[in-house]
Amino acid sequence: MGERAAVLRERKVDGLRASSNTLEDCLTKDSQCSSETKYYTWDEIAQHNKKKDSWLVVEGKVYDVSSWALRHPGGIDVITSYAGQDASEPFRAFHPDLEVVKKYLPTFYIGELKDQPGSSEKARPHHNTALLEDFKQLRDQVRKQGFYKVKWWFYVGMLAHILALEAISWSIMSYFGPSWPIIFLCGAILATAQAQAGWLQHDFGHLSVFKNSKWNHLMHSFVIGHLKAASRTWWNW
Ligand code: HEM
Repeated sequence: MGERAAVLRERKVDGLRASSNTLEDCLTKDSQCSSETKYYTWDEIAQHNKKKDSWLVVEGKVYDVSSWALRHPGGIDVITSYAGQDASEPFRAFHPDLEVVKKYLPTFYIGELKDQPGSSEKARPHHNTALLEDFKQLRDQVRKQGFYKVKWWFYVGMLAHILALEAISWSIMSYFGPSWPIIFLCGAILATAQAQAGWLQHDFGHLSVFKNSKWNHLMHSFVIGHLKAASRTWWNW
């Protein structure tokens, strides 16, 4: 068997082992480790810092996303900008529904970080631990203050007033017929609706309204596709 086939088989075995675990197991414990587990230093990882050769570290685990980065649902640029580095923070920040990401992780897992985060500061490609700690504290603080809690009535209100503005504009135009003042008035109402829909699609596009990713995608498609007449794939590319 060729070396590549052996590596792929090994990863698949690791992947199957990992997929039976919880996500926290997947990300934090040594659940994917076996006697065959490879360990990489920051020096080795930092060499894989290109678009076509990108390794990432997420909470002490090393992932090779080189062949998949182009198909990453969040786009190639965002994922490869962390090539050769620790991507734990943005990884947590950008994937609110970790159950979805969990399905992908085992495929790209190639081993463990030899120097656990914090244990060998000088070896890390970017020693920004103090900054990350500040961000973590800020995040914990705003979470405690309730800013991460989604207020469903806000989003219902957003959608309702956008639909209402569209309906009002359509009704005025069909009742009074096209004339310059009516065109300007309806244009202003529609422009307001479009601007508001832009904010709404933003929040769905960043998967931040529903806990379940599918609902965010569905509502994103509706708002950007049907209300704004744009392709939802523009959002990430
Ligand atoms: C092994 C590494 C990674 C895997 C397997 C992965 C996988 C995924 C998956 C499956 C989604 C779709 C999520 C959904 O539909 O619920 C996604 C979206 C996304 N990912 Fe990743 N990702 C990885 C690393 C990263 C990193 C390091 C970043 C940022 C630096 C990132 C940024 C994003 C963004 C921005 C989105 C779109 C969601 C949004 O805009 O809020 N990803 N990723």
